[in-house]
Amino acid sequence: MIVETFVQTAFQQNTRVVSCPATKAAICIDPGEPSNEVAEYIRESGLELKAIILTHGHLDHVGGTAFIKDEFPEAEVLLHADEEDLYTSLPQQPLLMGIQPHQFAALGMDYVDPPRPTRFIEHGEVIEIGELKFEIRHCPGHTLGHIVLAEHDRQAVFTGDCLFSGTIGRTDLPGGNYDRLIASINKNVMTLGDDFTVMCGHGPDTTVGRERANNPFLTGLYRLNARGQ
Ligand SMILES: [Fe+2]
Repeated sequence: MIVETFVQTAFQQNTRVVSCPATKAAICIDPGEPSNEVAEYIRESGLELKAIILTHGHLDHVGGTAFIKDEFPEAEVLLHADEEDLYTSLPQQPLLMGIQPHQFAALGMDYVDPPRPTRFIEHGEVIEIGELKFEIRHCPGHTLGHIVLAEHDRQAVFTGDCLFSGTIGRTDLPGGNYDRLIASINKNVMTLGDDFTVMCGHGPDTTVGRERANNPFLTGLYRLNARGQ
């Protein structure tokens, strides 16, 4: 499995192209912004882009979907059904962040309507890309329809904005819920082996074992500190 990461948008989001070396089949996870760099990488590497898979619908994860879909029309656009409303609201999302319409263009946030999803993906579904197999796990809490992708044979999980190195995703945005997020991480990520590489939507990679041992939101330390203990 080859993973190429492109750090994109003002939010430093990790757009990834993940490919199967044997077959050259590939997916793009969370295209954050229109990017010739990503398109050129796919073409110059001789990859066949099978799908654009969205962990969730926030603008820094989906802002490049229309561009990549235009460049590679054969690629499916896949996300969870519970995320559709957020995804389709892309052009309005900057307003939720307090950004005014006259500022959109200067900030690269003058989004067009994103392309229609090809279909919705469900918890437990396995998407085969060449020799790679990505199990979809529904992890609500950051948003309603957030998913993570687990590649068991390569011991890797792509966690979007659920779990980061040393911290977790925000839960104060629409659809967010702290207890749901913790439950999702414990059920769907921490049940993977300690050696799994965690590839996060922002910041550096980590491992399940490292987060199990040190992440204050998972060890219980954060809750103890919040109570002043
Ligand atoms: Fe997000």
